[in-house]
Amino acid sequence: MTIKRVTLLGADGELGPAILTALLAAAFEVTVLKRANSSSPDDYPSNVKVAKVDESFTVSDLVPILAGQDALVITIKGTQVDLQKRLADAAVAAGVQRLIPADFGSCDSASEHAQMLVPLFGAKTELRSYLTKLTHNHSGFSWTAVVGSHFFDWRAEFLHLYPKSCRADILGQEDVRSSYSTLSRVGEATAKVLSKLTETKNRVVYVQSFSVTQDQILKAFEKASGKKWEVQTFDPAEYEKTWVKERDDGDKEAIENLVFMLGALESDWTKKEDFAMKLLGLEDEDLDDVVGKCWEMWK
Ligand SMILES: NC(=O)c1ccc[n+]([C@@H]2O[C@H](COP(=O)([O-])OP(=O)(O)OC[C@H]3O[C@@H](n4cnc5c(N)ncnc54)[C@H](OP(=O)(O)O)[C@@H]3O)[C@@H](O)[C@H]2O)c1
Repeated sequence: MTIKRVTLLGADGELGPAILTALLAAAFEVTVLKRANSSSPDDYPSNVKVAKVDESFTVSDLVPILAGQDALVITIKGTQVDLQKRLADAAVAAGVQRLIPADFGSCDSASEHAQMLVPLFGAKTELRSYLTKLTHNHSGFSWTAVVGSHFFDWRAEFLHLYPKSCRADILGQEDVRSSYSTLSRVGEATAKVLSKLTETKNRVVYVQSFSVTQDQILKAFEKASGKKWEVQTFDPAEYEKTWVKERDDGDKEAIENLVFMLGALESDWTKKEDFAMKLLGLEDEDLDDVVGKCWEMWK
């Protein structure tokens, strides 16, 4: 069982380009699947095929597109569960071996605490259950979720770093480490999963660029910028209480802040049984190197 042909849906999103780059670097034959009415340009490398589908994404439209494909990687918004279920149904009908869903989470979305704080995470569990059910009746079909915690080099504000004004928010638990992944690490891990099919079958793999404390991140940015940063420290329990209340009052920013907290304080994958760095042949990246590049992008 080997994977040669991979279809990627979501190549033009935030994560998609990093996955496309990694799949091509690993010499997979890639087809980008996109909506027929997509406004994203088709400016992919010349060895990438493009397949278009009506925006309704019906199973009957998808099956002929996925026929002959070995894997389907989905990098649309993780909340689009119904669409992903249709993609999974079509993948099964088309004989696709491995599906990697849009489950590239910031935290362990299945944990009780995470689901209590961010009810939307229930959707991820629902999709994993759906995929698992499909595997029971279709032995040729399998799935893997690649969870790398917070994307480190995506948006500074997402990590509560404000490089232009040399400021950072810290949730006051200085010695708590958490995993973080660069976009390229998530891409690389995704490509590795497709070459380790048996070991990664029907499970979550946790990966990282590094596992560090918020203080180590702050120090690395101070080193890269050559400046002392201004820090606002929050008590985690108070922070949680405040943003749960704001969430209940309908504040959209609340969910993002609660996800920030879960990623910064409850996502040390080195402690997880499913920590898969060794399995996938991946090594940690150097925090100072990555922060140096981020500082150049964000300063
Ligand atoms: N761990 C973290 O820190 C973190 C942070 C952000 C995201 N994520 C995860 O990364 C994954 C990808 O998220 P993302 O932010 O990269 O997604 P995104 O930017 O919203 O993805 C948009 C892409 O999906 C495509 N797409 C296809 N069908 C679509 C439809 N029906 N509706 C909307 N878009 C559709 C878009 O196509 P067009 O080009 O045609 O519009 C575009 O290529 C998700 O699992 C998400 O949870 C994780």
